[in-house]
Amino acid sequence: MSNSQNSVVQDQANSLRAMDNGLANNINSNQSDSTTRVYAITSGKGGVGKTAVVANTAVSMAMMGKKVLILDADLGLANIDVVFGLAPKYNLNHFFAGDYALADILVKGPHGIKILPAGSGVQNFTRLDSSQKLKLLDGLDSMHNDFDFVLIDTEAGISENVTYFNTAAQEILVVTTPDPTAITDAYALMKLLSTQYHEKSFNLVVNQVQNENEALDVYRKLTMVSNRYLDISIDFLGSIPADRQMTDAIRKQRVIVDLFPTSKIATAFGQLAATICSEQPPATPKGGVQFFWKRLLDIGARG
Ligand SMILES: Nc1ncnc2c1ncn2[C@@H]1O[C@H](COP(=O)(O)OP(=O)(O)OP(=O)(O)O)[C@@H](O)[C@H]1O
Ligand SMILES: [Mg+2]
Repeated sequence: MSNSQNSVVQDQANSLRAMDNGLANNINSNQSDSTTRVYAITSGKGGVGKTAVVANTAVSMAMMGKKVLILDADLGLANIDVVFGLAPKYNLNHFFAGDYALADILVKGPHGIKILPAGSGVQNFTRLDSSQKLKLLDGLDSMHNDFDFVLIDTEAGISENVTYFNTAAQEILVVTTPDPTAITDAYALMKLLSTQYHEKSFNLVVNQVQNENEALDVYRKLTMVSNRYLDISIDFLGSIPADRQMTDAIRKQRVIVDLFPTSKIATAFGQLAATICSEQPPATPKGGVQFFWKRLLDIGARG
């Protein structure tokens, strides 16, 4: 994205943020949507385990009785549907084309979780006309109270799509591995989101660690550099061990918390899910889930 594009999007994000309270109150003020929490799961470097974290955390949350929607915003190949062994027939493109209702597009995953496959339709978030926007808002309206959590599986990197989802979500969860290039890219992503998009608060999960110390070391490195150069806070949410059985799970198209529920890695995902469930909603208002959709579409419409 060019600098001028950056600043346009930044201005949009700012003005939208400023309208936050007003809009959030106006939209469906008779419905309580404050309990739905929206997390964008993101990373600087690809292949660090975002999709694995989304899928396993979602299932762990569902096992705790939470209602979870996954928005599959990853246009890559190793998608959520592959991880769950699902073959969604339709995606948002079909919805936009007017052939199907949103409910027809939602796919059922294990333990009652729902998946909204965006497919290449995600790109259309930036190019919807106003009637399409209204249609989508209508559809989302009708289901927004059904979920305790919305987890967005984003692409890696700093594309426009990624920044849209990250700025729209209430919480940003950055996944990295202890690999130095993954740490550097995680830092670069947080730097961009804080300097260009005024995101100041991040959550961190360190995946594929040998032990907890290795994860804490990554957290220390990131906080040390960011304390020095950026005005952000990073919350360490936990770590996930490297586990060879992950390959097994992928091959069987089952999530590891389901396939090996007593494994160390399943316990770690359970702890991560419990930590997220116990987190208080942020004091700074970024609005409820309804505002998330609204913001997503608004930014997209002007982008
Ligand atoms: N804790 C882990 N232990 C072992 N293997 C893992 C672990 N987490 C992820 N993997 C493996 O690493 C690979 C990449 O994981 P995944 O697809 O979840 O990453 P991603 O960040 O979503 O990638 P992309 O950027 O391409 O979307 C997969 O083969 C996955 O099975
Ligand atoms: Mg992925």
